[in-house]
Amino acid sequence: MNNFNFICPTRVIFGSDTIQNLSNLVPINLKILVIFGGGSVRKNGIYEQVKNALNKHNISEFWGIEPNPKLETCLKAVNLIKRESIDFLLSVGGGSVLDATKFIAAAAKFDGDPWDIVGKRVYFDKALPLGCVMSLPATGSEMNCVSVISNDSLKIKRSFRNELLYPKFSIIDPKTTFSLPLAQIQNGIVDTFVHILEQYATVDLNTSVQDGFCFSVLKTVIKNAKIAINDPQNYDARANLCWAATCALNGWCNVGCIVDWSSHAIGHELSAVYGLDHGLSLAIVTPRLLRYNLKFKKAKLAKMGREVFELNADELSAAKGCIDEIESFFKSTGIATTLAQIGLEKNSVANLISERFKQRNLIAGEHENIDYKAVKQILLEC
Ligand code: NZQ
Ligand code: ZN
Repeated sequence: MNNFNFICPTRVIFGSDTIQNLSNLVPINLKILVIFGGGSVRKNGIYEQVKNALNKHNISEFWGIEPNPKLETCLKAVNLIKRESIDFLLSVGGGSVLDATKFIAAAAKFDGDPWDIVGKRVYFDKALPLGCVMSLPATGSEMNCVSVISNDSLKIKRSFRNELLYPKFSIIDPKTTFSLPLAQIQNGIVDTFVHILEQYATVDLNTSVQDGFCFSVLKTVIKNAKIAINDPQNYDARANLCWAATCALNGWCNVGCIVDWSSHAIGHELSAVYGLDHGLSLAIVTPRLLRYNLKFKKAKLAKMGREVFELNADELSAAKGCIDEIESFFKSTGIATTLAQIGLEKNSVANLISERFKQRNLIAGEHENIDYKAVKQILLEC
């Protein structure tokens, strides 16, 4: 196991009817900006619950953060913050609203071009404090300090991180997910699953506790995916998916490990160019990426095949079988797993995305072997 240095200062308030806790969690003496997405919260009752809980607070609202949140929209919120001297941000929605809120918190205190925070990953030592009501189990953003922002004019989607961006608190009420459209539950299931794969299926460093966490999250997702899809009001299934999503990317699974993140690197390019939902991009890329890198990943995939899918075979067969099982599981949710299924032609996608890797000299993967040539080969299999 590698050395590590771990902190996660986010308070998590989990469970049914927990949004009312906002009245105590949000500082009463500060000016609050509540940040929302496109309006789902008005239909499912979350907005009303937030308003009721904050009826004694001094709040303003900002609406319109889009999925794959855009720099351009975030900058409008930054202007509002400066005009109204806002001191605290509350994100209400999915991962996109929260990621946007993290960027806005940093940009509001940043001297210089705010895109440099993402584009150049410039370090910053000031940010507004923020809290969160999470309505979509997927990204784990509610318990990490990462944000992913898209620059529409440059067609670049990129992550950045800073410890100042851990939410002070995150409220996760599984009932808020009852209203999710099927596509977003599918995206969330795949995103959670792939977060584990990116952190687990790399080099075997004998990280027994972390591997156990990973198997637990994977088994939980597999067990509850079908129930959550067939019975959207099943509280237990939603609760387990919510907590699995949070635990998959709060750091517990990857401390002391070697991580990959190349499915995400390729997926972000697909989202930046074609506007794909994040989970969908991963459902298409990940099985092929794993096959491409089988020689590096086979020991851990074989272990996962035995532990999670109960495969009983030699190492190579168990590793190959594990990838087949992963792909079948994604398909079982109903999500598309090929470019053709979403109307994209693989040759042109492979050429374009490969060219973008080449131009920006992007290299990904735990062995730094996912360059533009590898990306082309992988996408030609998608
Ligand atoms: O915008 P509204 O109207 O709220 O609707 C949203 C949106 O259209 C809707 N939705 C959210 N909660 C709902 C709901 N609809 C009904 N009922 C609810 N309870 O769902 C749609 C998608 O929301 P979005 O926030 O975009 O989805 P998700 O949570 O999957 O976030 C995706 C973004 O997070 C980034 C992705 O790249 C993508 O930009 N990620 C962030 C990470 C992080 N911060 O650590 C890690 C991830 O790997 C990922 O990259
Ligand atoms: Zn992800």
